[in-house]
Amino acid sequence: MATQEYDYGMIGLGTMGQNLVYNMCDHGYSVAGFDKDTAKVNSLESNAGGRKVLGAHTLNDFIGALKSPRVIMLLVPAGAIVDAVINELKPFLSNDDLVMDCGNSHFTDTDVRTQQLAKEHIHFMGVGISGGEYGARYGPSIMPGGAKEAYERIAPMLKSVSAKVNDEPCVTWLGPGSAGHYVKMVHNGIEYGLMQLIAEAYHLMKECIGIGNDDLHKVFAKWNEGRLKSYLIEITADIFSQEDDLTKNRLIDMILDASKQNGTGQWTSQSAMGLYLPVPNIDTAVSTRDLSGLKEERVAAQKKLQWNKATFKGQPNELIDWLENAVYFSMITTYAQGMSLLQRASKEYGYDLKLNEVASIWRGGCIIRSVLLDDILSAYSNEPALVNLVVNEGLANKLQSCQDGFRLAIKTGIETGVPLPVMMSSLAYYDGYRSGWLPANLIQAQRDYFGAHTYERTDRAGIFHTQWSQNKQ
Ligand code: 6PG
Repeated sequence: MATQEYDYGMIGLGTMGQNLVYNMCDHGYSVAGFDKDTAKVNSLESNAGGRKVLGAHTLNDFIGALKSPRVIMLLVPAGAIVDAVINELKPFLSNDDLVMDCGNSHFTDTDVRTQQLAKEHIHFMGVGISGGEYGARYGPSIMPGGAKEAYERIAPMLKSVSAKVNDEPCVTWLGPGSAGHYVKMVHNGIEYGLMQLIAEAYHLMKECIGIGNDDLHKVFAKWNEGRLKSYLIEITADIFSQEDDLTKNRLIDMILDASKQNGTGQWTSQSAMGLYLPVPNIDTAVSTRDLSGLKEERVAAQKKLQWNKATFKGQPNELIDWLENAVYFSMITTYAQGMSLLQRASKEYGYDLKLNEVASIWRGGCIIRSVLLDDILSAYSNEPALVNLVVNEGLANKLQSCQDGFRLAIKTGIETGVPLPVMMSSLAYYDGYRSGWLPANLIQAQRDYFGAHTYERTDRAGIFHTQWSQNKQ
């Protein structure tokens, strides 16, 4: 039996875990893996191809194989399973061992686990990893949070396995406690927003100009050569050309229009609401997935709620051009909302995040990588305390330049009855953010009228309540 020979341990040998193990081995590290599923343990060894990998069949063998102090990575589903694994591991652990949770755990769980394990002198880190199966194998974006000293122990390994952009690794220490998992959660919230607004562009093109899949492929491939260049636009172009093995139709047309979710987008919205910080593009993207899930209700309603909608009479290329503007505009506001949430959370939870570093490590390996992140990186490098990306001079000019096309795309959606929820939220956010005056005085008056909730005045300091003369209660 191997004793104290392996540099790292990995618990959870699904595709992500296995790929990350091989990635680590390819960078010179030896790894012992453990999973309750024996088939996965066997497959780790049988696919290892000469790499220094151990597939352990018991926790005892796994622990015994690791160099001390141990570093153990977990890639298991978020929630109760993480606690169950930690509880099983605990009796085997010694002072200074480090456990890294590399799944999509909720940040508050990460804080609790960090504190509980610290009492037993075990270090715990919440580490966000993005990039799917391919990223895990060939270079993900890695978002580690926790004690800085613990990070220093694993930094060389994380840097070597991560994606690189201009030779810079897409990993950095983000902050204490749950900083890494918070940043990963917001990454996913942005991911939801971007995915939905791309879907809206597809919807409007399909409904208004009856565009086919080959042309959709071409439009997205062309967009990916310009300012929209990003992983999500790139894979969208690919998706439209994929043939279905079963029917030989295009696969996209055979997929049920009801989207699922694992919760990270919803967590982003919940956290933002708790911090009184608006992220409407993300909220709307979550709600729109929920609406898509009401498939049967939608089909029934379609029959009942017919409407004489207008048909689009413009040129197809014109609409495609408006939509390119709309996608770009909404992309900027989606990142802007995510970044402003990170800024607020950083203050609230003491993460001390450097938003330029966050933008930097998102430029490669992760699902939301895009050329726009270069602009976001330079915006925060030049002005670390920038209140919102939409007021950065460069990005403000870009928003300004695509506003007309964007509004025309939305107008087309309104006239033709095609829902563009994230695009509309994006525009309302922008128009609201740049309004020095909003009708919230009326909300305050109503609150005071029916509930004596008081209000502040424009002409003097203090808190006021009025005995409204015609109070109807
Ligand atoms: C990533 C992805 C990854 C996962 C999403 C999917 O960064 O690699 O975000 O974490 O694919 O969580 O989320 P939903 O299932 O909620 O769409």
